[in-house]
Amino acid sequence: MCGIVACIGTRPAAPLLVEGLRRLEYRGYDSAGVGLLRDGKIETRKRAGRIDALAALLAERPISGTVGISHTRWATHGPPTDMNSHPHLDATGKIAVVHNGVIENHAAIRRDLEARGETFVSDTDTEALARLLGQLYAEAGAHGEAAFLEALRRALRRVSGAYGLAILCADCPDAVFGARKGSPLIVGIGREEHFLASDVNAIVAHTREVAYLADGDLAVVRAHDFEALRMDDREATVAVSRVEHDAAAAEKGDFPHFMLKEIFEQPHTLRNALRGRLNPEDATSVLGGLNMTAAELRGVERIQMAACGTSWHAGLLGEMLIEEFARIPCEVDYASEFRYRNPPFGRNTLFLAITQSGETADTLAALREAKRKGARVLGICNVVGSSIAREAGGGLYLHAGPEIGVASTKAFTSQVTALALLALYLGRLHHLSALEGARLIRDLENLPGQIEEVLAQSERIRAIAQRFRGAASVLFLGRRFNYPVALEGALKLKEISYIHAEGYPAAEMKHGPIALVDERTPSVFLCPRDGMYEKTLNNLEEVRARRGPVIAVATEGDREIAHKAEAVIPIPAAPDHFAPLLANVALQLFAYHAAVALGRDVDKPRNLAKSVTVE
Ligand code: F6R
Repeated sequence: MCGIVACIGTRPAAPLLVEGLRRLEYRGYDSAGVGLLRDGKIETRKRAGRIDALAALLAERPISGTVGISHTRWATHGPPTDMNSHPHLDATGKIAVVHNGVIENHAAIRRDLEARGETFVSDTDTEALARLLGQLYAEAGAHGEAAFLEALRRALRRVSGAYGLAILCADCPDAVFGARKGSPLIVGIGREEHFLASDVNAIVAHTREVAYLADGDLAVVRAHDFEALRMDDREATVAVSRVEHDAAAAEKGDFPHFMLKEIFEQPHTLRNALRGRLNPEDATSVLGGLNMTAAELRGVERIQMAACGTSWHAGLLGEMLIEEFARIPCEVDYASEFRYRNPPFGRNTLFLAITQSGETADTLAALREAKRKGARVLGICNVVGSSIAREAGGGLYLHAGPEIGVASTKAFTSQVTALALLALYLGRLHHLSALEGARLIRDLENLPGQIEEVLAQSERIRAIAQRFRGAASVLFLGRRFNYPVALEGALKLKEISYIHAEGYPAAEMKHGPIALVDERTPSVFLCPRDGMYEKTLNNLEEVRARRGPVIAVATEGDREIAHKAEAVIPIPAAPDHFAPLLANVALQLFAYHAAVALGRDVDKPRNLAKSVTVE
């Protein structure tokens, strides 16, 4: 949430920063701002609304300079107004700060500074930090980099909470300062120019050489080099690595929306998730990144997962796969709940953090809690070098490429695939036969082609979505392996179309939600020809008996269902455990087309932002 880009070099900074912010807009789109340092002065431009509004302001009132910081905001403290936009200045206007995260003791700092005569101009927590920094720098009685760094250290010792920061100081025209605690910050290493960014996508068009800062690191970034320091003045050790993808991977190409592009990428991203990870000879998977021996994995007696949102739904399906194929008790928890529970950890509990971004604050906190309790911790992440990927002792990368659409799509498919690979591996260490293992491998290999078949139904799904776009509420119902996809289908629809939707286990709805059924409330039934088919059909009849319209996601060629539903979305025949992945792609398309039909801003749904780095 929120995006930071800063640059220092020889090129005009304002266009570079605006371009970087556009690439980060999915991180927050309430307001945006830039601050440039030139001739010993800092000038800012800030605007509520999208990056376009900031670009228009800069066209009206340009600023020049080759050193600058910028920010796109997802509002936490204070509404999205021009004044609350970043950068925030200290009392002298010589220090400018952009900030991701939350300064938790901002109110106390503000009270203290107001008592000393400071007048705040915004409602934000960030301004408290900017003004505190200004006070401490003034108290130092000296100017320049060393004095500024000392003031920065003192200020950071006084604040609690999370931050990724990029800071300008008018007395230090050759540097941009960065600091990180709990919110990602990356140094981009270019030729005669360097960057600071909260996300590699902001800078990958300019450089693929990056250094990931760790919590407690400070950075002094100059045109020709950078220095990473620890809060306590020690030199920090940061390794330089190369970003896997190029700028084109984070662009829409010919698609009207990132979400549609990412839905259509799934056959490819799924193949990437499987590449090099199947061993047909031994009928198992190859999972080198786990950093655990077969003996250690064989000793795992329980698996505890934590995740949020779509990743939690992937975890729920993963839980079923692991229990089915590896016969190891497994449970997925909402990370936000898990971190405040006091869960007992057996000695042989393995903890999995499932996350696309690798930066979700609650999932990171849950992982730390699990580590504190002594659990072995793995991450299932998409973003390379993310906080969770680095703090986990090992894990699996999804290799799905950048996911820019705020609504997660391809990550879900890859997360479930990664968990299926883990289930296969663990299963083969226990009781799963070579024949069953080989069958699972074939099932996985079939998936990309089957997803292509679902994608080919896009126009048909569009027509169905248009027909039902006027619904005020939609129910999504499925049983067993389809239940997590009922939840995910409902989440997708509500978050991008704003149609109220509820996912439920199909049989459970008799215990309450069936009261919602009437002729204006469609129910999407996930009813492939699986072991639960007849049972699910009974639930479908219960809805029909109450005049509820039915949209069925069913196995192609199912004639029976055609008579029982107002609309049918066919998916290829697949084993019970993987058919939900195909159904899910159909529901992603359903949500997408419904949102487009309603004229919604699909890639930037209201109130949301990608990567929830606040609690
Ligand atoms: C929904 C969505 C969110 C994320 C959730 C977790 O479409 O994108 O529910 O799944 O915020 O994010 P990650 O996976 O980055 O931890």
